[in-house]
Order: sequence, then structure tokens, then C-alpha cells
Amino acid sequence: MDKPPEKIVVRGLRDVAAAETKISYVNPNGTLYYVGYNIDDLVEQVCYEEVVYLLLYNRLPNKQELDKLRALLISEMNLPEPITDSIKATPKNCHPMEVLRTEISHLSYYDADCNDHSEAANKRRAIQLIAKVPAIVAAIHRAHTNQPTVAPTEEFGFAENFLYMFRGKTADSEEKAAIDRFMTLHADHGFNASTFAARVTASTNSDMYSAVTSAIGTLKGPLHGGACEKVMHMLDDINTEEEVEEYIQGMLDDQKKIMGFGHRVYKTEDPRTKHLRCIAENLCHRTNTLNLYNLCLKIENVVHEKKKIFPNVDFYAAVTLDALGVTSAFFTPFFASSRTSGWVAHILEQYEDAVLLRPSSQYVGEFGRKFVPIEQR
Ligand code: CMC
Repeated sequence: MDKPPEKIVVRGLRDVAAAETKISYVNPNGTLYYVGYNIDDLVEQVCYEEVVYLLLYNRLPNKQELDKLRALLISEMNLPEPITDSIKATPKNCHPMEVLRTEISHLSYYDADCNDHSEAANKRRAIQLIAKVPAIVAAIHRAHTNQPTVAPTEEFGFAENFLYMFRGKTADSEEKAAIDRFMTLHADHGFNASTFAARVTASTNSDMYSAVTSAIGTLKGPLHGGACEKVMHMLDDINTEEEVEEYIQGMLDDQKKIMGFGHRVYKTEDPRTKHLRCIAENLCHRTNTLNLYNLCLKIENVVHEKKKIFPNVDFYAAVTLDALGVTSAFFTPFFASSRTSGWVAHILEQYEDAVLLRPSSQYVGEFGRKFVPIEQR
């Protein structure tokens, strides 16, 4: 009998370290580091392009390096025409994450040196993907709302350009700061599920487009980046603060997860939450949607009281994006647009590590079944 040896199965790979990384550290005690910098020190002092540079080159840029990267990123926000045509031809009822997943895969057709897997070619590809994911997200929104595609402009920073191309109107200084911080806070987060998926694909020496496509498909799920959109659905379902207690109790009684709460690693509040809470409050104040912000505070208190769990990055991201004029179906695409910098940094690191990620499993099925030909079944 081929009885398999007993192995230790770590359900959900909880606490399993699958590789070494220098890119980010998610501390269970509630701190997050990008390449050694605490995000609390970065979020209000750097722009998203500086974070991109940090993740790709392992250090912060000087002014000249930053200007060069910004110009390159903005020029790479222009999309090949077949991509915009294909987006326009997509049925309007498709979810933007489905369209994004398809178009990132499609993008590889227009990579002139797609067979060049050198480090330099992959770095170039990484920068193109960081720029093209938000540009595609913006183009999907424009097409879905029957509005013309908006070209990027050198006058604006990268995050500001993204919001401009998405909405077709210029961001004011507070919106500009908000989108920059949003993207900075979402740029990387250790071996989360989508990053791991990207690294698994990269570990087979597959191309970067395939790895980012894997990541997008993984981020889409409601237990990961898809939670953000569901948070907005919950806020839409609850009309007043008085309804919160009963709504949350009902969800818990039905064994349902409260979206935007809980975390695999943090045992305390997610360090990104305090920043997003503050950004959300500020924006809601300006847009006269403080009722939504106050609803969030009430939900946070009730969920903590009942389950002793904290909001994660997705909770206040929902009201933040809503106040920036982003519709809920585009919340996860905004997350993807920011996380692409982390994904490609991890893909490059995985290429360097050059090891196939291939775990094993504990077989618990049957042995020795007698084969029966199809005519006799
Ligand atoms: N609502 C209700 N109970 C929860 C929640 C929640 N959102 N999250 C965790 N719990 C409970 C869980 O039921 C369990 O309770 P008990 O010990 O009584 O059985 C306990 O907390 C431990 O949770 P867990 O299921 O072991 O946690 P996990 O590490 O397997 O899952 C999670 C982490 C993020 C999948 C989960 O918290 C969840 O489903 N949250 C809602 C979806 C969500 O917000 N996802 C975004 C995750 S963070 C950012 C991102 O990746 O996008």
C-alpha cells in the first residue's frame, strides 16, 4: 500500500515563510515597513513615485532621479490603441476587475521585446506595468461611462494624473494629497495572497504580464482586495447609526464576515487604517458626507465590541475613494493600480531568487480502488 508519510499541513499557510524578502515587513504588532522605512514616516512626506523608486531600487531617489522616473511613468500611461479599442468593445456589464485582468494579459502582445528576459528588460516592463495598470483602469471607467479617454499630462504627478484620467477633471490640492497617500499606503504588503500568486507565477520563469495577471485575479476576491467594494455595499445597506448594532449582530449570527475587518497578520489595528481614517474624515467633511464617515466609526466600535477585531486597509479606503468620486466597482481596481508597484518588485525579487515555488500536500484520499471500464459503470 502506498500510504503517504504524515506531513504537517499548515492550513491557509498561516505563518509559513515561503521566501526571504527585502521589500516590506508586516509586523503583527501593527507596523509596516517598506524597504526599512516605517510607513508612518513616509506617508505624508513622500509622493507615490518615490515609493515606486524605493520598491524597485531599494533606496529613495534624489530629486533628479525622481523627476526622471515621474516623466517616464507619465509617458508610459499612454496605452497602445488596440488596448483602448478592446476596452471600448467590452460589454458594459463586465466588472472592471475582469476587464483589467484581461487587458493586462492582452498588453503582452504589444511588448516589442517580449522574448527578452534580461534584468534590464524586466525593470523596463515593471515600470510600464506600474504606469499602464492605472491608465487601463481609467480607460475602463471612461468607456463604461461613455466618456472619451483622457491622456496623461506632464503638468501633474503620477497619482494626480491617474485621478485626472479617471474622472476627466483636475484634482484640487487636498484630493491630490489624498490619492497620493492612498497609493502609497496600498503599494506593498509582504506576502499577501496576490503578491504570493504573482511570485508563484514568476517562480516558473513565466513572464511579468502573466505574473501580474495572476495577482489581479487573486486580488479580486472579497477576502482580499475585493473587500473594499463590499464595504461600500454594507454602508449602502445601513441607513442610520441606530441600525448598526442590529445589522452587525445579524451578520455575526449568520456566520458572515464583516467586510473590511480582521487580518491574517495584524493582531492589533492595521497601521494603514489610522492614515486612511484621517484622509476619509477630511474628504467627507469637504463633500458633506460625514454621515458615511460617522457610520464607519460606529461600525468600527460595534465590531470591536462584539468580535475584538479591527478594521483593515479596505474599511476606510471605501469612504476615501467614494469621496474622491470613484464608484464602488472601481475600488479594487484602484487598489490594484497602487499594488502593481509591490507586485512587480516582488516578481523581480523572485526572478533573482530563481527557485520554483512548489509546495506539497498531504494526500487523504483513497487507495486501491478497482478500475471499472466505462461500459460497466
Ligand atoms: N468578520 C467577522 N469575524 C471575523 C472577521 C470578520 N471580518 N475576520 C475575522 N473574524 C473572526 C473569525 O471568525 C475568527 O473567529 P473565531 O475565532 O471566533 O472563529 C477570528 O476572527 C480569527 O479569524 P480568522 O478567520 O482565523 O482569520 P483569517 O486570518 O483566516 O482571515 C481575513 C483573515 C482577512 C480573510 C478575515 O479577517 C476576513 O475574511 N475579513 C473580511 C474580508 C476582508 O476584509 N478582507 C481584507 C483583508 S486585508 C486587506 C486586503 O488584503 O485586501
